[in-house]
Amino acid sequence: MGRTFLLTGPTRGLGLATARALLRREPDATLILAGRDEAALARLAQRLGKARPRARLETVALDLQSAPSIRAAAAAVRDRAPQGIDALILSAGLQFTTDGLTTADGVDLTFANNHLGHFLLANLLAGDVVADGRILFVSSGTHDPAQKTGIPAPDLRTARDAAFPPAAGRGEAPGTAARRAYSTSKLCNVLCAYELDRRIQLCGRSGPGVLAFDPGLMPGTGLARTYPPLLRALWSWVLPNIIPLLRAMMGPNIHSAAVSGDNLARLAVDPSVHGWTGVYVSGRAAIRSSDASYDRALQAELWALSAELTGLSPAEAEFAWKAVSPGPPVRPGPEPEAFTTLRLPA
Ligand SMILES: NC(=O)c1ccc[n+]([C@@H]2O[C@H](COP(=O)([O-])OP(=O)(O)OC[C@H]3O[C@@H](n4cnc5c(N)ncnc54)[C@H](OP(=O)(O)O)[C@@H]3O)[C@@H](O)[C@H]2O)c1
Repeated sequence: MGRTFLLTGPTRGLGLATARALLRREPDATLILAGRDEAALARLAQRLGKARPRARLETVALDLQSAPSIRAAAAAVRDRAPQGIDALILSAGLQFTTDGLTTADGVDLTFANNHLGHFLLANLLAGDVVADGRILFVSSGTHDPAQKTGIPAPDLRTARDAAFPPAAGRGEAPGTAARRAYSTSKLCNVLCAYELDRRIQLCGRSGPGVLAFDPGLMPGTGLARTYPPLLRALWSWVLPNIIPLLRAMMGPNIHSAAVSGDNLARLAVDPSVHGWTGVYVSGRAAIRSSDASYDRALQAELWALSAELTGLSPAEAEFAWKAVSPGPPVRPGPEPEAFTTLRLPA
């Protein structure tokens, strides 16, 4: 029997491309597809199953904006993977263009959707990930102000700034606060990955590797679904066909979803990734993430606030004791200078 993977956001864009690449690389895999559109999940499982008849495709209902849904999904995943999970691939995410959207509890909707949901899911399932497995958080280059992506820089002096951003309208153009919430949520993904890694490392035993991943700009995905019609058409139909030109004009970190999906699938399955942990991978290589992402106090503060907002109990948060297996302590994550040595082979 093949290995078992959980993938969020499989119905479109990066997630869909990752599902395809994963099954190409591991045709015997059990792939658990988790999403909120159950009809779309069922159709997808059927399509993928036709192309990869040796694979076992499972579906699980998951709405990352709902803690009860996340808890039910974690229980369902555990039922379907009693032998453990080889990789959690946390790809789902949204970008809004309307400022000031919040959950019913008043939490910023982008923060809740892109960070809190995966925070809770990863905590509930980390103990089920096998000791040499992987937990992969999909982030974005927009988390790093040094990368000049065109998206406003994150606003995360305190974790509360991210969860409850100051009201929009400081003389900014409409949509600026919404796009800032996106880059902020992507910084939260990196902070969360590093804190989870640190907690596993603190156990002093071997546990899953935890990575943050930047897929690069991938025109054509559903991420632009709330953009105005003209921009959406440009994103969906024009830009995907001129990626070489875009790379020449804007730099190399622009890929088709198929290329980025394959890179993400490789992080889940490639043996050469064993031992990589607490690092940020862009494309196929580990690189340094933003300065703010290494702020230990901010990592811990975000963790505590996220536990409070999701209702994660201290007992549940002690996943690490369940997750680790007896064995020699693993190497601590590499120092930034070592990043250049962590590269997937071509
Ligand atoms: N596209 C880019 O240029 C780019 C660049 C850097 C990073 N990323 C990151 O890549 C990831 C995938 O984005 P994408 O571009 O592939 O976007 P996409 O095509 O819109 O796919 C997003 C996926 O996430 C799912 N999702 C969103 N909110 C959810 C929720 N509350 N519960 C369950 N599933 C939910 C969507 O399901 P529904 O269909 O039900 O909404 C969809 O399957 C995101 O984390 C994004 O931040 C994208």
